[in-house]
Amino acid sequence: MKCNLRRRFLFLYLIVFVIIIILWFRPRPNAQKFDYFKLALQWPNSYCLLDYVTCRPAEPPQNFTIHGLWPQKNDGSELRNCDVKITMPDQILDNMRQKLLEYWPNLQNQNNWNKCKDFWKGQWTFHGTCSLPEFDQQRYLDTAINRKNDYDLLNDLDSAGIKPDGTAYDPIKICEAVKGRTTKVPIIKCFKEKSSGNVIFHEIHLCINDNGQDYQDCEKLTQCKYSLRGCPRNIKAIFPPMPPPSPPSVADYLQEAWDSKLEDAAELKLK
Ligand SMILES: *[C@@H]1O[C@H](CO)[C@@H](O)[C@H](O)[C@H]1NC(C)=O
Repeated sequence: MKCNLRRRFLFLYLIVFVIIIILWFRPRPNAQKFDYFKLALQWPNSYCLLDYVTCRPAEPPQNFTIHGLWPQKNDGSELRNCDVKITMPDQILDNMRQKLLEYWPNLQNQNNWNKCKDFWKGQWTFHGTCSLPEFDQQRYLDTAINRKNDYDLLNDLDSAGIKPDGTAYDPIKICEAVKGRTTKVPIIKCFKEKSSGNVIFHEIHLCINDNGQDYQDCEKLTQCKYSLRGCPRNIKAIFPPMPPPSPPSVADYLQEAWDSKLEDAAELKLK
């Protein structure tokens, strides 16, 4: 009788133990589903003014370019590094070379294909993997480029009298001009330039539904006055023109020579 009871308890313990083991090792989804995308578009001249950035070549394209396409949660958080084992294949990038270089350049290494690829691979791992499985690598890149090409925001700003001429503009007016086109509230980003203390207009973030197609207000904002980030209240932000051409430094020259050597070597290896 007693023995039977003990056995039953042992059996119970065993069951509990097995359940704990199963719960412990169950496949846990390593990413929550994202709610929407932020498409970050940068003004290249501003990016090149950041004190930790050196643009190569020093004269970047004179149009907004993609910084990234970032899956977001409605609670205001950003998902990152969701499935780092799924990488961006070189093949996909090689096939999209022209488009990527034009719309999504690595401004720090525009002429170095391998470093460009590292930039997109990094964006994919850090951000893109959080839109899996709906968005695979190809669809993720296509979505960023297609949405960037929905609007000619440089032209829309120009129509609102806002030009990259080195003068300062009310960032709320920048937001209004973008909203006038997309009908949705974007995020406007600025930063303070260390050397001059000037506030620089840097990025426009457009928010896109999780279908990768339709636009929506960013962060459920209803008005442009709430959409400024890093742009201090009542201070106008400079919209910087093309940087003056700088004679290439010896360091840049050596870097480029070295990069092209590496590229040649890489290509030889492929053959
Ligand atoms: C800037 O980019 C937009 C959207 O990609 C494009 O429609 C426009 O033609 C470009 N403007 C210039 C001056 O290249």
